[in-house]
Amino acid sequence: MSEPFAATKVTDRVYWVGAIDWALRDFHGYSTERGTTYNAFLILADKVTLVDTVRAPFREEMMSRIASIIDPAKIDYVISNHSEMDHSGCLPYVIERIKPEKVFASENGAKALDAHFHRDLGVTVVADGQTVSLGGVQATFIETRMLHWPDSMFTYLPEDRILFSQDGFGMHLASSQRFDDEIDDGILEYEAAKYYANILLPFSAAAKVALDKASKLDIVMIAPDHGPIWRTGVKRIVDLYARWNAHKPANKALLIYDTMWGSTEAMAKAIEDGIVGEGVQARSMRLRENHRSNVATEYLDAGAIIVGSPTLNGGMFPTVAENLSYLKGLKRKNLIGAVFGSYGWSGDAVAQIKEILASMRVELVTEPLNIMYVPEKPGLLKCRKLGTLIARKLKERVAGPR
Ligand code: FEO
Repeated sequence: MSEPFAATKVTDRVYWVGAIDWALRDFHGYSTERGTTYNAFLILADKVTLVDTVRAPFREEMMSRIASIIDPAKIDYVISNHSEMDHSGCLPYVIERIKPEKVFASENGAKALDAHFHRDLGVTVVADGQTVSLGGVQATFIETRMLHWPDSMFTYLPEDRILFSQDGFGMHLASSQRFDDEIDDGILEYEAAKYYANILLPFSAAAKVALDKASKLDIVMIAPDHGPIWRTGVKRIVDLYARWNAHKPANKALLIYDTMWGSTEAMAKAIEDGIVGEGVQARSMRLRENHRSNVATEYLDAGAIIVGSPTLNGGMFPTVAENLSYLKGLKRKNLIGAVFGSYGWSGDAVAQIKEILASMRVELVTEPLNIMYVPEKPGLLKCRKLGTLIARKLKERVAGPR
């Protein structure tokens, strides 16, 4: 072995040549406790083809993995499925160094690449459904506009029945394993859900279009740009995407709050007990201790959201405002909700939260519950009653019309 990094064989002609970022803990504001990978793939056809590249600081790791199986100068084609910098960051360097015959991207991809790098990269634009011969092997391009950028596309290799799906079906998960069946099931599903919630949820309609297009293909492997390659779990991840796309409420209530001197927290605990008493799962998250991207993961399939805040300086507690601003952008549908809080004199926070939840189209089951200073037993009983009420409404929703 003359290279420090090795490629991983995916099929007889496809190799993983990406990079592993074990240290990443923040991906443009998304908390990545388990790091990530930037996946790139090499297709050893007559026209040697590189599918996507990696984040710029990882370029030599990618080049070394390529060089472990072939001289990088032999690469003829580069396909850019997605222009975001974690996949295109070293594309100008790759073009300059290996001088490929062609670089393929969607029409929007060509524009995005030029706009990012402020130079003409000489991209050959490909259309939705277009097939290009790689010499004995075909590559079909499938436009997946707004999944999750205007430029996004999949590339399908019918001979190997692989879908190169850029961010779709991906997750932020660094690991020394490259395939889904080598990784713990619970971690896989959590990280896939977290990725969908934080990156793709606002684009559920585009995800549905992409899924419909993919359903017409014979796929045995999905190779995303982050995380493991799906080889035994293709149906599993496709089914999960179909469920998340539908915004179907689960029998689960998400209770998010923050607290100053413990009053709002005491209310939260009584509400939680009321929910659980009705047989509904309660996921309670004090926001100072929970990153917004982990809150979003629980929000993905919750059927109810209950938000609590003390009034601080005439407004919401800052963590509550931050999380609502973030969750609003995710455009979840089919949620019921409730609001609670504690206060000293003005008590304005609950009205502000109510207004935001209304703008998120959350159907509130009752008026906000606002308690002055420290709740006593009657106040806590009201909280429990609120938990019971929302749990009963949620159960009715989940059961559907009889
Ligand atoms: Fe992994 Fe949208 O970039």
